[in-house]
Amino acid sequence: MIERKDLLGLLQPRREEIEEILDLGLKMKARLRAGDKSLDILRGKTVTTLFYENSTRTRCSFELAAKYLGAHVVNISAQSSSVQKGESLVDTGKTLDAMKNDFIVIRHPLAGAPKLLAETVKAHVVNAGDGMNEHPSQALLDFLTMKEHFGRIGGLKVAILGDIRHSRVAKSNLYGLKKLGAEVRMFAPATLMPIGLDRMGAKICASREEAADGADVIMGLRIQLERQKGGNFPSLGEYAKFYGADESLLRHAGKGAIVMHPGPVNRGVELSSELVDGDASRIEDQVLSGVAVRMAILTLLEGGTHA
Ligand code: CP
Repeated sequence: MIERKDLLGLLQPRREEIEEILDLGLKMKARLRAGDKSLDILRGKTVTTLFYENSTRTRCSFELAAKYLGAHVVNISAQSSSVQKGESLVDTGKTLDAMKNDFIVIRHPLAGAPKLLAETVKAHVVNAGDGMNEHPSQALLDFLTMKEHFGRIGGLKVAILGDIRHSRVAKSNLYGLKKLGAEVRMFAPATLMPIGLDRMGAKICASREEAADGADVIMGLRIQLERQKGGNFPSLGEYAKFYGADESLLRHAGKGAIVMHPGPVNRGVELSSELVDGDASRIEDQVLSGVAVRMAILTLLEGGTHA
């Protein structure tokens, strides 16, 4: 049973809660594949997406997930809202509560903003990415993709390559994968590897080949070009050569290894185009998993279990 009002990250939920979301997500994904997009689990409920940062995948898939469950959907972007007039996050939340809104899906540049909102409003709050902290629904869709492909997550070797320091995706993956029994390897330029993730259970690798050796999953992370003014690596070309993944790196991975990326991809930087479009790529499948797992998250937070 999911016994929480909000989904703020993957540090707090128990393994059983994560597994429940994945089990329902797999059922939702099967229904989507069968063309079934009209459930009425959230009929009469309202889901508001409140995005203070840009997004394609996350915002769009939460909107579609809510609509496929029969909910009303309102989309607010900070650029076109009263945030521009100086309204605080707490007051925005109280305003949505007063309108009898049931869910707020929030993306915010500051770590902790979803927690502050969740403590303020009656609505369920789902963290759609907060600063450098967490992106739990992205990690859950990654787990769904892995679970569907391999039939399990326990025992998988997952190599995460790239800008770990700025990546909320990497942190949520680490917290969840460790609970589910996977081995998590990480490799990044020293300037982009935070201290302490080994204490959270990550195996910090000295080369991309060490990370990829016998791995089941190679996961590239987006180089956040908007954060790279600080000269964390010499050039994109050098980054691609020493920290990116390509066909030659895939040969170090285990038989049947898959390639993943949260998107959007900088082709030729984190992953070669051959890998993005190749047979091992599950990047498009991750997008479908995203709609399915978000349907599961909304359903379970509301207290339902049916699919
Ligand atoms: N993976 C992800 O969060 O993508 P968007 O920024 O497009 O939502």
